[in-house]
Amino acid sequence: MIHMATLVHDDVLDDADTRRGGRTVNGLQGNEAAVILGDYLFSAAYRLCATLESQTPALLIGQTGMMLCAGELLQLAHRGDLSLDQPTYYEIVGRKTASLIAVSCRLGALTTLERAGLGADGVSDVEVAEREAIADSFADFGRLLGIAFQIQDDLLDLLGNQATVGKPLGRDAELGKLTLPIIHHLGAASPEQRGRTLLLLDSTGSEAQRSGSGGPNGAGAKERLVAALEATGSIDHAREAARELVTDAKRALGGGRLPDTPAKRFLLTMADAVVNRAF
Ligand code: FPP
Ligand code: MG
Repeated sequence: MIHMATLVHDDVLDDADTRRGGRTVNGLQGNEAAVILGDYLFSAAYRLCATLESQTPALLIGQTGMMLCAGELLQLAHRGDLSLDQPTYYEIVGRKTASLIAVSCRLGALTTLERAGLGADGVSDVEVAEREAIADSFADFGRLLGIAFQIQDDLLDLLGNQATVGKPLGRDAELGKLTLPIIHHLGAASPEQRGRTLLLLDSTGSEAQRSGSGGPNGAGAKERLVAALEATGSIDHAREAARELVTDAKRALGGGRLPDTPAKRFLLTMADAVVNRAF
């Protein structure tokens, strides 16, 4: 529910009229209704948390909501910042995307372990420590996968097919958000190429705004931008970074601590899907 609330608000911020192939709330009902619906979902989630015996979910979800907003604000502060570096990019993505997936994995693990009797009232400190260690592994899995998910999202924004992805593409450049392939490229390109790419970024954004993303002029500028990114190995760099994160995420769930169950195998398969997806 919180995820849905953040995306309903995000679509207002990004002025996006489609998501996953469907019309967005702001597209259908306008920004005011979308802001209020996001707030409604956010409140409904906390109401549900209040029905639980444990305060942990509300506490962790509250912390994460603060983290998400901090990530969005950091991104906003760097809008149009052409010197954005990779550590700051990872900081933004860690907060705005990975934190929510990490907390979802942590809470799923904690709840399951509590129900299984590990770390419930009356168990030993050793068992509580074991429960926390398992929950940390799941949170690491979610955090690493979340960063990989966002990098793949950045790649799809540049390379994806709009009909398959189901949302407006090219919005990152249009809104002055530098993504990993572009940050890498601007660091690796010659001064002359850097200048050409900055002009391309400018025209990708303004042409997309004039003709709608994917229009003939916007597509031309976008193709030249992608060719420039390929020439400096920046697309490969981002792909490799996402793949390494998935490998690390799978390692976080590996080891002997967790038995080889269908659920674990599903999570490992899902991890691969994050970077293999075309939508
Ligand atoms: C998608 O990013 C957006 C997020 C991952 C987080 C958005 C969070 C907020 C707007 C803060 C609202 C917070 C609460 C607690 C209600 P993107 O735009 O890069 O991805 P997209 O291409 O899928 O839109
Ligand atoms: Mg968005």
